[in-house]
Amino acid sequence: MTIRIEEAIGIIRMNDRGGYTVPTNRLYPYQWNWDSGFTALGIWHFNKWRAWLEIMALLDAQWDDGMVPHIVFRQHDPDYFPGPGVWQTNTEPSTSGHSQPPVLASVILRMVRMGTAYDSRKAREVFPRLMAYHRWFCSARDPQGTGVIGIIHPWESGRDNCPDWDIGMNSITVPDNLMSYNRRDTSHIDSDQRPTQSQYDRFITIVQFGREVEWDHHAIHARGPFLMADPGVQFILLRACRDLLELAHLLDMNQAFDEIREWIDLLTTGCDWLWNDAIGGYCARDIRTATFSNAITNASMLSFYAGAGSPEQRASMAAHCRRILGACQYGMPSWDPEHADFESKRYWRGPVWAIMNHMIWTGLADAGETDLAARVSNDTRNLVESQGMAEYFDPLDGTGLGGMDFSWTAAIYLDLCSDEVAALHKETA
Ligand code: GLC
Repeated sequence: MTIRIEEAIGIIRMNDRGGYTVPTNRLYPYQWNWDSGFTALGIWHFNKWRAWLEIMALLDAQWDDGMVPHIVFRQHDPDYFPGPGVWQTNTEPSTSGHSQPPVLASVILRMVRMGTAYDSRKAREVFPRLMAYHRWFCSARDPQGTGVIGIIHPWESGRDNCPDWDIGMNSITVPDNLMSYNRRDTSHIDSDQRPTQSQYDRFITIVQFGREVEWDHHAIHARGPFLMADPGVQFILLRACRDLLELAHLLDMNQAFDEIREWIDLLTTGCDWLWNDAIGGYCARDIRTATFSNAITNASMLSFYAGAGSPEQRASMAAHCRRILGACQYGMPSWDPEHADFESKRYWRGPVWAIMNHMIWTGLADAGETDLAARVSNDTRNLVESQGMAEYFDPLDGTGLGGMDFSWTAAIYLDLCSDEVAALHKETA
């Protein structure tokens, strides 16, 4: 095992495109929403100013209605599909048409807690934008105020091809007039590790619907081809609201308290709808048919991060956590390894992702599950130190998979080694 701090910093610098960071060279040539959130946290440990710039650049693309889009296209790259010409959102800068897990407020709270007056000043500057983003999520993705957030595309979950979405995806009818397209991902990465063609047709069907209704979010929620509740987005948003409330306290933004508290109460109530008795855990669920997905994922494991559930529910989730970690060499897999659909190398259908692990161990530690938290953070460190900054890892044998030199994996590693990064800086300052 080698310490890879210099390498992690080098990778993030290499992926810097001048004010924003791409997830990795070629495969993902633009700015992604939650990638940038985590990447900012990593950058913060060696360059605070640049970390804030990452966040400012992302928020620069926020829509007028408050949505922070999942991709920001700042230049044309013919090597990527689907690019701005496919989304047709008519925004400036060009963006995709939906969001991604809202990790920003939680990242910013960390930076403020660890930081100085400079960080508080920057946080105060972006605070109204964070409020607008959360307000958008709670209204556009839950227009009836049920407390259950609906995602309109598997991509909005950030867990693109997880079997969780098979239920919603199977009920999509691919229209005869589906735009013709050429996917580019399989020319960069082995197709065994990427979504299948029929999944891709369905992904594009949703995009086509969005652009037909000119990205009217109410129309998409009401009539779009896909609407599912995601434990990932639900728990990440709930945690982000709690973190936003703490941020409001730290920054004396008293006028925001009541609104944030209402979001927290509503989202907390909504979590119950995702509890699947048959599994004894939180699962994804189709909002229109109420059909549950039937396995525990790394997103289910974020219940601790959100502080969700009764004592019995927490105990059941902790038991799942122990069982799943016992069934693989490296946790936390993105799909239950004891379930028939588990595929250890295919993207979100089995592999381990450093960013998910980061939120999982944070939640486990908060919940007092110290051993489980240590297991997940140690596994993450071992994976990165033995394999490098891979996009994701095989939970059975630890192989690094997908794109290499990944910004967010490097960033999580830097956060994990923050003491060593700080010591290194002192030496070189
Ligand atoms: C893939 C991942 C998504 C991520 C993006 C860029 O689409 O599923 O979560 O944001 O790549 O890294």
